[in-house]
Amino acid sequence: MSKTVLFISGSPRASSRSRAVTNVVYRLLRDQRGHAQLIDLHLHELPIFNGDPAQSELPSVQQLRQLAAEAGGFFIVTPEYHSGISGALKNALDFLNAEHFNNKPVAIAAASGGGKNGINALNNLRLVLRGVSADVLPGQFAADPNQIDDNGIFTDEDGVKSLNYLVHDLIEAL
Ligand SMILES: Cc1cc2nc3c(=O)[nH]c(=O)nc-3n(C[C@H](O)[C@H](O)[C@H](O)COP(=O)(O)O)c2cc1C
Repeated sequence: MSKTVLFISGSPRASSRSRAVTNVVYRLLRDQRGHAQLIDLHLHELPIFNGDPAQSELPSVQQLRQLAAEAGGFFIVTPEYHSGISGALKNALDFLNAEHFNNKPVAIAAASGGGKNGINALNNLRLVLRGVSADVLPGQFAADPNQIDDNGIFTDEDGVKSLNYLVHDLIEAL
């Protein structure tokens, strides 16, 4: 019986390259195990976290927390925004805590505009996930704009192979 992996696509943008990466990884994982859930932060609107207990009553917050609690592991894709993760992703993670992540494997990937290839966002995401006691896998993936076509499809075959290794490692760690 396989555990569910919760995918979080960390971009608030509609035509997001993070979503393109999420889509291909989601398919790779479902091909192998079939148990996946998805939170796309473009579609899943959350308020700015302010600690008010009333926020816990919001359906979007409850759904995020429930899916995270039920997940056996996570695959988180972040865009690189100003050398870090997106505000949308950091805000979503602020609604969660170690109870959602403790002893669960997390695979991470980034989509960047090029340059340093998302490494700052990946390092930033590792730091934030350390704060919620997640077991972040040592492997990671950074997508370049030239791996994604104008229709938002991840087309790079070598990249798909690398992502498949990461998916394999995540499944092994579940
Ligand atoms: C506010 C903002 C800041 C950005 N900062 C960076 C950056 O520091 N480094 C970089 O390589 N790309 C940067 N980009 C480009 C994004 O990484 C690029 O759009 C990529 O496709 C991932 O974002 P997306 O998932 O929203 O498409 C930035 C984009 C935005 C909108």
